Amino acid sequence: MNSKKPTICLSSSSHIRFLLYILLLFLSLTVISALYGDGNETDHQALLMFKSLITQNSQGALSSWNNSRHFCDWDGVSCGKRHRRVVKLRLNSTGLEGYLLPHLGNLSFLRGLYLWDNNFHGVIPHELGHLSRLRVLNLEKNNLIGFIPANISGCSKLVALHLNENNLVGGIPQEISVLSKLIDISLGRNNLTGGIPPFVGNFTSMQVFYITDNPLGGSIPDTLGNWKDIHILSASHCNLSGTIPRSLYNLSFLSEFRLGDNQLTGSLPLAIMLPQLLGLEAKKLMK
Ligand SMILES: *[C@@H]1O[C@H](CO)[C@@H](O)[C@H](O)[C@H]1NC(C)=O
Ligand SMILES: *[C@@H]1O[C@H](CO)[C@@H](O)[C@H](O)[C@H]1NC(C)=O
Ligand SMILES: *[C@@H]1O[C@H](CO)[C@@H](O)[C@H](O)[C@H]1NC(C)=O
Ligand SMILES: *[C@@H]1O[C@H](CO)[C@@H](O)[C@H](O)[C@H]1NC(C)=O
Ligand SMILES: *[C@@H]1O[C@H](CO)[C@@H](O)[C@H](O)[C@H]1NC(C)=O
Ligand SMILES: *[C@@H]1O[C@H](CO)[C@@H](O)[C@H](O)[C@H]1NC(C)=O
Ligand SMILES: *[C@@H]1O[C@H](CO)[C@@H](O)[C@H](O)[C@H]1NC(C)=O
Ligand SMILES: *[C@@H]1O[C@H](CO)[C@@H](O)[C@H](O)[C@H]1NC(C)=O
Ligand SMILES: *[C@@H]1O[C@H](CO)[C@@H](O)[C@H](O)[C@H]1NC(C)=O
Repeated sequence: MNSKKPTICLSSSSHIRFLLYILLLFLSLTVISALYGDGNETDHQALLMFKSLITQNSQGALSSWNNSRHFCDWDGVSCGKRHRRVVKLRLNSTGLEGYLLPHLGNLSFLRGLYLWDNNFHGVIPHELGHLSRLRVLNLEKNNLIGFIPANISGCSKLVALHLNENNLVGGIPQEISVLSKLIDISLGRNNLTGGIPPFVGNFTSMQVFYITDNPLGGSIPDTLGNWKDIHILSASHCNLSGTIPRSLYNLSFLSEFRLGDNQLTGSLPLAIMLPQLLGLEAKKLMK
């Protein structure tokens, strides 16, 4: 590696070196094909399995999903240009009905999963935690049941978690506290309990925290005052009690702040707080 002059004569030692180079090249090609080449078949299988569990496709959203085209050209599927692996699956509002199956966790290049406004039921498969490149998980407005899987802590690049309007139960799992890139947590209109965990205050870039309409209970943690970039903080109808922490008074980017329909006590010094406030349900708070 460190010989700088070009070697032209084929001495026996350069022969060996040449063979080593060939071997190295072969090994890297094997690795590359393991990473990319075979992966496309895994993605293909995962998509076919996904389709096979769809029981209702009345709008024909998946009718292009057949072998007349490469899966990268199927409706709702986007692939990377180079590696031809699935990077986005976008099937918002397509009237799909069925179950989410564990094979989705095999789409290892996936960055965005958008299944907003369909009729998926059953649980959120914990295998989604294998999607280490996933940035947006949007399963909003479906009929999903069960817990928010603790394994989504494996989605270390996750920026937005959108699970509004399902029938999820249990708590906001402690495990997700490692997802340091999260800026949008939307879990409204479920049946979540266990309070607002203080660790969410550690997501210091948080912009949207929407948990309205869950019987969460407990009080508002002081740590939410760390959210210097927060735009929307909505926790109406969450069975919250106690007082509003003073640390929230300084959140200057807040444009929507809803805490109505809880059992909070005390009043807010409106004159000094929340300069850009627009949507405060003040009446409910002050009574
Ligand atoms: C996967 O990649 C291989 C080699 O690049 C190609 O021959 C094959 O057709 C691809 N399969 C799919 C389903 O894309
Ligand atoms: C297969 O998909 C193509 C579009 O990609 C569509 O025109 C065709 O009707 C489909 N075939 C079947 C049998 O669904
Ligand atoms: C639908 O999917 C797109 C991505 O294609 C996303 O940007 C958009 O926000 C989704 N719509 C809703 C209402 O969630
Ligand atoms: C994909 O995921 C399923 C379930 O998680 C698993 O059984 C299967 O072996 C995985 N791999 C491939 C290549 O499909
Ligand atoms: C889920 O997480 C647990 C523990 O963190 C791990 O043992 C398990 O293999 C994970 N399962 C999947 C499917 O990721
Ligand atoms: C929430 O749970 C309660 C009690 O388990 C149940 O009666 C109610 O229907 C559930 N609500 C939703 C929206 O799932
Ligand atoms: C927040 O993060 C700090 C340091 O990273 C850690 O010591 C603390 O326990 C975390 N707080 C919560 C409530 O998880
Ligand atoms: C609200 O919280 C209280 C405890 O603070 C609990 O007793 C009550 O059952 C909760 N109500 C609902 C609707 O979850
Ligand atoms: C609000 O900010 C001011 C100055 O930035 C600081 O002195 C004060 O302690 C803060 N108040 C709270 C409750 O965090």
